Amino acid sequence: MTVYPMIKLQNISKTYPSSSGVFYALRDLSLEIGHGQYIAVTGPSGAGKSTLLNILGGMTRPDHGDVLVNGKQLYNLSEKKRNEYRRVKIGFVFQQFHLIPYLTVYENILTGISGGNNRSNIQPLLERFQLENKSKHHPSQLSVGEKQRVALIRATVSRPDMILADEPTGNLDQENSKIILDFFREYHGEGKTVILVTHEPGLSGLADRVVHLRNGIATF
Ligand SMILES: Nc1ncnc2c1ncn2[C@@H]1O[C@H](COP(=O)(O)OP(=O)(O)OP(=O)(O)O)[C@@H](O)[C@H]1O
Ligand SMILES: [Mg+2]
Repeated sequence: MTVYPMIKLQNISKTYPSSSGVFYALRDLSLEIGHGQYIAVTGPSGAGKSTLLNILGGMTRPDHGDVLVNGKQLYNLSEKKRNEYRRVKIGFVFQQFHLIPYLTVYENILTGISGGNNRSNIQPLLERFQLENKSKHHPSQLSVGEKQRVALIRATVSRPDMILADEPTGNLDQENSKIILDFFREYHGEGKTVILVTHEPGLSGLADRVVHLRNGIATF
C-alpha cells in the first residue's frame, strides 16, 4: 500500500494581474506536509503566506502546479467534494476572523459543526476560552481577543485533522496569545496537523518545521 503525505504541493505558482504585467504571489513552491506535523509559515507582509494557506484549504486554485491531498489532486475534485474537504478535514482560522455578524457566538460556533458531530464539545470549549458568558453575544459586542477565540473554537469544534491558522495571535496580548498557542500544542500532541502563519519570529520555534516565504519564494 502506498503511503502518501497528507499534502504535497508541487511547483505551485499563483499570479495576479498587475499594472506591470503579472505579479507572482507564490512562485514555484514545492512542499510536503506529513500527517501530524506542526509547521510555521513566516515571512514579511505580502510574502504570500495567506495565499499559501488558501491554496492548502481548497479555496484558491493555483495557476500552475499540483496540490495532492492523500495522493489526490485537490483542484480536480468536484466543487462538492472540495467543499466537503474544507468542511470535514480542515479547520480554518482566518486572519480577519470571518465571524458571521448576525449570528451569536454559539451560532457562529455551530457553523463549524460537521456531519455526525454533536454539540457537546461546545460548552467545554467556551469554558476553556473564558467565553461561557458571551455565548449569546454577537461578534460586534466582542473584544478582538474574544473574536479570535470564537474563530478558533469554530475551526476546531469538529476536531478536524488539520488546522490552518492565519496569524491567530497577530492582534493579541501575551496572555491571549499563550492561550491559543497552548491549544495548538495540545492539538498537535493529539496527532493533528497544525499550520500556523505568523509574523512573529519567536513563535516559529514552537513548530517542527519552518517555511519562510519572501516575495512568493519559499526557503526551508
Ligand atoms: N486578489 C488579489 N489580487 C491582487 N493581488 C493580490 C490578491 N491577493 C493577494 N494579492 C497580493 O499577493 C501578495 C501576497 O498576498 P498575501 O495575502 O498572501 O500576503 P501575506 O504574506 O499573507 O501578507 P500579510 O502578512 O500582510 O497578511 C501581496 O502582494 C498581495 O497584494
Ligand atoms: Mg496574510
